[in-house]
Amino acid sequence: MFRNKNILIGITGGIAAYKILELIRLFKKNNANVKVIMTENATNFVTPLTVRTLSNNPVYTKQFEVDNLFPEHISLGTWADIFVIAPASANTIGKIANGICDNLLTSIACAFSKPIIIAPAMNCEMWNNVFVQENIKKLKDNNYQILPPEAGFLACGTSGIGRLCAIEKICNATYEQLKYKNEKLIGKKIVITAGGTRENIDPVRFLGNHSSGKMGVALADKAYALGANVVLINTFNHKSNYKTINVNSALEMKDAVKNEQKNADCIIMAAAVADFRVKNQFENKIKKDTTNEEITLELVKNPDILSEICQSKTQNQIIVGFCAESENLIENARNKIIKKQCDYIVANDISRKDIGFSSDENEVYIIDKTQNITKIEKAPKSIVAEKIFGVIYGAD
Ligand code: C5P
Repeated sequence: MFRNKNILIGITGGIAAYKILELIRLFKKNNANVKVIMTENATNFVTPLTVRTLSNNPVYTKQFEVDNLFPEHISLGTWADIFVIAPASANTIGKIANGICDNLLTSIACAFSKPIIIAPAMNCEMWNNVFVQENIKKLKDNNYQILPPEAGFLACGTSGIGRLCAIEKICNATYEQLKYKNEKLIGKKIVITAGGTRENIDPVRFLGNHSSGKMGVALADKAYALGANVVLINTFNHKSNYKTINVNSALEMKDAVKNEQKNADCIIMAAAVADFRVKNQFENKIKKDTTNEEITLELVKNPDILSEICQSKTQNQIIVGFCAESENLIENARNKIIKKQCDYIVANDISRKDIGFSSDENEVYIIDKTQNITKIEKAPKSIVAEKIFGVIYGAD
């Protein structure tokens, strides 16, 4: 499972520290090389000697250990493929989220450019503390993987959310992070839109469409799994380990996309954006009894987000549009790439019931600027997503 992989574990001062002994054994059993950093507080809960014996490696506790300044000590961050901080205390979470480096663990976290997994464990009131939650959000938005604590009986005698998640969960998350990555996607900022926009009529009703958002989410999940720094702009809620921004209308989506465009390497507009919105939204709910037999909604055109971002794109930015057509698929897609000036158009045939909207499968054609066409045969959306990245970035 972890052959040739170097896992660095950071243990902070919490009672759940004793569970990490099992985690070390699990990693070792699965052929990982394990090294451990402990904060000084952590050494009150488990002894460095136990950790050293289980990991078969020296244990690192002090930032400036004059008698023990091996070069290895300094290069722990370079050695590790991943840094797993468990249990992560509110204190250490706060420091990392705010760039504080006052011990070896937080200093290495600050300088670490590979994946970091954080598994918090603390009293439930501490977990619910507004600042702790703000720090967690900050870390999550910056691509740290958070494995949230679970509900149950806590060592402090109360019950609630705060227990360290299962050791197996930490092991699996580590495996997923270290699994196959595409070198060309690692660290790239990829912004993806998903879902159908909703254009309000009144506070209760909206104009919408049948997009399920599944293709956009599949692209975001795949990009994240391949090592990218993902931002998903979605009209649906989707729990994930990467940054997600929820929007409703086309105008909200436009603002979110433009905010994220500046330093993006790639933007994929998989969302079904409404072409029109209601000109004068009703402030209050339209009442059946007080209106006539007919009401008229006046619609105005929405901005074309894809066209706008293509106008302001930076030199190396790759912009991908989607096109859903019920007839003349290829011809329409070919015209669209010229009109919108994007780098690729992914075209799918919405007249087919077995693919596209709401389906878990898709079959698409990718058209590039030279009008070259690549067909991706019918497959689950996660596989189609991987193949789309293969066309854009080349398979690894
Ligand atoms: O022109 P059409 O709506 O078919 O183009 C579809 C592509 O343009 C999709 O990538 C969609 O996300 C994007 N789009 C947009 N803004 C709109 C309408 C569509 O960005 N107002």
